Amino acid sequence: NMSSRINVAIDGPAGAGKSTVARKVAQQLGYVYIDTGAMYRAVAFAANRAGIPASGAARLAELMKTIEIALEPGPDGQLVRLNGEDITTGIRSREVTLQVSEIASHEAVRVKLVEMQRQLAAMKGIVMDGRDIGTTVLPNAEVKVFLIASVQVRALRRFQELSGIEAVPIEQLEKEIAERDRSDESREISPLTRAQDAVVVDSTELSIDQVVAVILDLCRTKTVEA
Ligand code: DC
Repeated sequence: NMSSRINVAIDGPAGAGKSTVARKVAQQLGYVYIDTGAMYRAVAFAANRAGIPASGAARLAELMKTIEIALEPGPDGQLVRLNGEDITTGIRSREVTLQVSEIASHEAVRVKLVEMQRQLAAMKGIVMDGRDIGTTVLPNAEVKVFLIASVQVRALRRFQELSGIEAVPIEQLEKEIAERDRSDESREISPLTRAQDAVVVDSTELSIDQVVAVILDLCRTKTVEA
């Protein structure tokens, strides 16, 4: 029913399962899924390639004027393009992962990406995941979820994702996740915080499908109200 399309914002720390859950919710509703973390990762990837350090505010601001980031549906999920080039795999490297939080702390980076994100959501019928969707990007989203999980569970999930790709000790992953949480929560612009009207969902002891069911319930309530 087009007339009752809503926007769904899913925020929370790294590794809480946001992207998997958001993709499934979007599939169930026939909505478009937008992974905003992938957009910040695309900037980090572009900066890396241009030899710009994560601390280089002025050069990053210049870079933002020259890059075009596009998200499009692909055979195995969302494709990410940088000036037309497919960088879907490249943005998941550890190098990008270690630098992206600092890259995302720069105002010039956030201003441009937030504007893009609002444009993408203008049509309604989207599920967007990130850190500041419910607070800054889409403060009027009909459904807001703040998805959390313990650091231990998030490190374990990441460890399983990396199995066969990279051997990183789980203690190391726990340290990196805790560090990225601190950095995302303490930055000055749009820190990771829960919107007052967001519903907190703790996925530590829930399966993906259970989390999806909780969110779909919230969406149903809102669609009926709308
Ligand atoms: O969700 P992710 O791990 O792909 O996100 C990558 C980084 O981008 C993460 O360190 C936080 C940042 N980010 C952000 O600042 N704002 C968003 N809306 C999404 C991601």
